[in-house]
Amino acid sequence: MKQIALTGIKPTGHPHIGNYLGMIKPALELAKDYQALYFIADYHALTTVKKKKELEDLTYQVTATWLALGLNPDDVIFYRQSDIPEVFELSWILACFTAKGLLNRAHAYKTLVDENVQADREEDKGINTGLFTYPVLMAADILLFDTNVVPVGLDQQQHLEISRDVALTFNNNYREVLVVPDALIREDVMTITGLDGRKMSKSYNNVIPIFAPSNQVRKQVMRIVTDSKRPEEPKDPDECNIFSIYRHFADADAVEAKRKLYLEGGLGYGDMKNELYELLESKFSDQREQYDSLMQNRKELDQVLEEGAEKARYIAKRVLGKVRKAVGITGKR
Ligand code: TRP
Repeated sequence: MKQIALTGIKPTGHPHIGNYLGMIKPALELAKDYQALYFIADYHALTTVKKKKELEDLTYQVTATWLALGLNPDDVIFYRQSDIPEVFELSWILACFTAKGLLNRAHAYKTLVDENVQADREEDKGINTGLFTYPVLMAADILLFDTNVVPVGLDQQQHLEISRDVALTFNNNYREVLVVPDALIREDVMTITGLDGRKMSKSYNNVIPIFAPSNQVRKQVMRIVTDSKRPEEPKDPDECNIFSIYRHFADADAVEAKRKLYLEGGLGYGDMKNELYELLESKFSDQREQYDSLMQNRKELDQVLEEGAEKARYIAKRVLGKVRKAVGITGKR
């Protein structure tokens, strides 16, 4: 039987090519070797997204994004967290095995506390309990499916450690009931550079969106920062922000040919930007169309997610059943 890989996708706005290369593409590749469960973490988003329409829109956007970029719901169990009531029951049980001190030290919470302290405010001002217990819900997401590996970015490493800690504490008290998951950390995410050479990130406003209209994609590509070398001058490709994106999309021969041209001289940044733009167009224009058409049809998106939830709950019920039994909950389910 295949091992289980599971990850949660926090619904955040328009995806950019850094998200694609750093998370979506590797996750889709991983799904070839594992039974993958990928879900939209809508209840995690509720800790910060407090506008009804925004949460709805984000949920559908991220669903359409993954489907348009190639997630096949026949291979991947693709669902919405909120469709799995078992998660929330397990979350309570796990909370009873989570040292409060562990949550006090969680980075996301601690950062907010530190900000309050710095500003001379009461420690917990403006911090809701959902934010505080976020890692417990995340442990439930993971442990509910006997997950073996969790592909995440570096920023989630601590959350994974908390999940492991909770599973071990639980198992220590009873017996080996829960599978203790391993993190699969993608360090390479850091190397995807944005328009200005820093890591591509929405908060730096240096991204190339995937599903924006072509003229906007073009505009962003033209904004890529370069030095002022003239076309005939030799250049170092590894110092060039255009090349650093180009090399992820072009095939290996083309990348080598370009590398040579950089080193020898004879390549202008303007032409190189055009070429990158054309490459992105050829890569994503079909998917953009598919994204747009999926976004027109929310019923279909709901249906895909509901079918995924049904498959997920089949596993969830079994695992929750063994947990309830282990702790001594006597009622029928
Ligand atoms: N906290 C994760 C993030 O912000 C999202 C997430 C929720 C998650 N539940 C998960 C990731 C379970 C992996 C496993 O990106």
